[in-house]
Amino acid sequence: MPGSVLGLMGGGQLGRMFAQAAARMGYEVVVLEKGQCPASEVSAMHIDAGYTEAEALKALSSMTAAVTTEFENVPAESLSSLAQAGCLTAPASYAVSIAQDRLDEKTFLEKVAGVPVAPHAAVLSIEDIDNLDEALFPGILKTTRLGYDGKGQAVVANKDDARRAFKAMGEKFCILEKRLALANEVSVIVCRGLDGQTVTFPVCENHHRNGILAQTVIPARVSEAVSSKARAYAADIARALQYQGVLCIEFFVLEDGSVVANEMAPRPHNSGHATIEACETSQFEEQVRAMTGMPLGETTLVTPAVMLNILGDAWFDENDQKREPAWDKVLSLPGVKLHLYGKKEARRARKMGHLTVIGKTVEEALERAKAAARVLGLPQPW
Ligand SMILES: Nc1ncnc2c1ncn2[C@@H]1O[C@H](COP(=O)(O)OP(=O)(O)O)[C@@H](O)[C@H]1O
Ligand SMILES: [Mg+2]
Repeated sequence: MPGSVLGLMGGGQLGRMFAQAAARMGYEVVVLEKGQCPASEVSAMHIDAGYTEAEALKALSSMTAAVTTEFENVPAESLSSLAQAGCLTAPASYAVSIAQDRLDEKTFLEKVAGVPVAPHAAVLSIEDIDNLDEALFPGILKTTRLGYDGKGQAVVANKDDARRAFKAMGEKFCILEKRLALANEVSVIVCRGLDGQTVTFPVCENHHRNGILAQTVIPARVSEAVSSKARAYAADIARALQYQGVLCIEFFVLEDGSVVANEMAPRPHNSGHATIEACETSQFEEQVRAMTGMPLGETTLVTPAVMLNILGDAWFDENDQKREPAWDKVLSLPGVKLHLYGKKEARRARKMGHLTVIGKTVEEALERAKAAARVLGLPQPW
């Protein structure tokens, strides 16, 4: 019930927005993260320790009945030890563990949830490359673990290329995926409650730059058929996983309108930030509702919106000199909502904040977002 304490593993911006939603609903949040962090700044309590420290996990489990995560690579073992200590963990450790390994993830999506994925094969040793089907080339070699924002990946044209890339990646376990011709990249945030109630958000349309999400448009500019297929797949995946909490599924839309699942994140997602302004209930509020056993909220679109990530690059001018971005100018534009994560040092490629730009129509939101991007010198992927 509101008034009680909710536990959070991880202290980044996703945790900060979760803590803000929880505080608004009257909960106190205790964050487990080493050092001061975006989430600890807005949370009632902070356990300053690593995710695997036994004392810290014990302290956390004594302070709260329910724990959630905001960081994909929180060790699944830490979540199981919290569960053993009597905490509800939403998500559960097995779900996090599947999402931490691309091979387990693909196998689960295809074989258990029955959702199409890109043709792929495991590359666990250099010999595995000899036996690969030629039809997988040109492909993308990805490490099975710890890849994010395009890191731990290489485009490979043929087997020789794949051998070189596999060696360059230190012969870590990999998956080779066929490189598909993408018409669109979209994501669906899905939330499943403790009683199995499942809601999906309107589809998000994502544009990356240098492997990092740059822009999300909600609702995605895809056909009704694509949008309902993606949402139905996301709900199927959450059900097949018996998932508790917020989960994001990234999908590829192909030229023929088919929808292929790419990867999942067992937590709220960067592409869902605009749900704060654009939907009746945000992904962060759903996370609070799901872990407390409350009914989930409506995800209905309230307004179209465009989310623009603000990376540390916005703090550097053309001559590579540090400057403060023109917040006053950008806030003078209509429809602009500023979110900053309180990170002290701006570094290139570091996620410092985002803008959500709302408009009466997607076109208006995009026009306004373009103006905002120009003011802050953000990349314009449209
Ligand atoms: N099989 C594929 N075919 C075409 N493009 C791909 C494929 N896999 C990944 N990509 C591109 O690379 C990006 C990053 O890959 P992804 O698997 O999502 O890893 P990350 O964990 O880095 O987000 C995707 O958003 C997409 O643009
Ligand atoms: Mg991705």
